[in-house]
Amino acid sequence: MQKVLIIGANGFLGSKLIHYIQNENYSHKFIPIASDIQNNTIPKEIDFKRIDITNREKTIETIKKINPNTVILTAAYTNVDECEDKKKLAHNLNILGTENVALGCKKINSKIIFLSTDFVFDGKKGDYSETEDPKPLNYYAKTKFEGEKRITETGIDYIICRTAVLYGWYPYRKNFITWILNNLENGNKINIITDQINSPTLANNLAEILLHLIDHNKSEIIHTVGDCALNRYEIALKCAKIFNFSQNLIQPIKFFKQKAIRPKNASLNISKLKKILGNKFKVLNLDEGLNFMKKHRDL
Ligand SMILES: NC(=O)c1ccc[n+]([C@@H]2O[C@H](COP(=O)([O-])OP(=O)(O)OC[C@H]3O[C@@H](n4cnc5c(N)ncnc54)[C@H](OP(=O)(O)O)[C@@H]3O)[C@@H](O)[C@H]2O)c1
Repeated sequence: MQKVLIIGANGFLGSKLIHYIQNENYSHKFIPIASDIQNNTIPKEIDFKRIDITNREKTIETIKKINPNTVILTAAYTNVDECEDKKKLAHNLNILGTENVALGCKKINSKIIFLSTDFVFDGKKGDYSETEDPKPLNYYAKTKFEGEKRITETGIDYIICRTAVLYGWYPYRKNFITWILNNLENGNKINIITDQINSPTLANNLAEILLHLIDHNKSEIIHTVGDCALNRYEIALKCAKIFNFSQNLIQPIKFFKQKAIRPKNASLNISKLKKILGNKFKVLNLDEGLNFMKKHRDL
């Protein structure tokens, strides 16, 4: 059995990891330990250890004590627009916090799976592969890219998983897709931009992909996103279609003012991921992900 420490376990992706790691497909392989700044949502049967990743000494000490085989680091300052105003906070969490966890892993020879973002690219071309050079446009993306570098510089075993536009049911915060569904359900008209393309990723699907990648023993960057590339307007139309809401409520717009600059086409190429997973596990596209949500409202 391998010990897996999930840091950021109350969060959106963290909570999905906690859910799936207890599932019979994985529970015979992994012993989960959940961690976050506080225990808000962790089921009683899962061991919880408090870690504030901005505290270097305590982070290293706690990781050493837990002695996991693998650490999955999902904790981050994830509000892209807020990162523009709260640069120090973003720096402390996404760069120094990431480095602190990596240093903890180094002490005990543990592997890290780090979650990064499609926003590391400038979005001028799309369909980015892992060999292409990042050029982050906003502060959030700059801190995540620097976090990637701090991990590789420590010399530990790592997998850097770049993901995008996470969606799925999560009671504590809306994501782009649950925000759309909520508005359509209430009959609200919504304006959605046409010129921002990403690869939306079902958080449930990503959580299971990460659990499959624990056994991947090559240190590398892997693009881990949904098997699709769509603009925000197309995403909204698919939501309406699959959940049987009126598409007339969705108005395409060209421009939407946001604090942080977004890359225009940050879609990611997932050929490497598909090759690694082979026929062991399927990466879902948006139709499949939305149908999953429709069928499993409790997951
Ligand atoms: N969500 C997306 O669409 C998206 C897209 C691309 C990449 N990613 C990356 O994927 C990862 C997971 O994203 P997510 O949306 O699941 O994140 P999330 O829901 O914001 O979860 C992050 C968790 O980390 C915790 N945390 C905050 N500060 C901490 C600290 N100092 N020490 C320990 N834990 C701390 C948060 O607690 P509080 O809530 O109490 O602050 C929260 O529980 C992130 O690394 C993100 O950069 C996400």
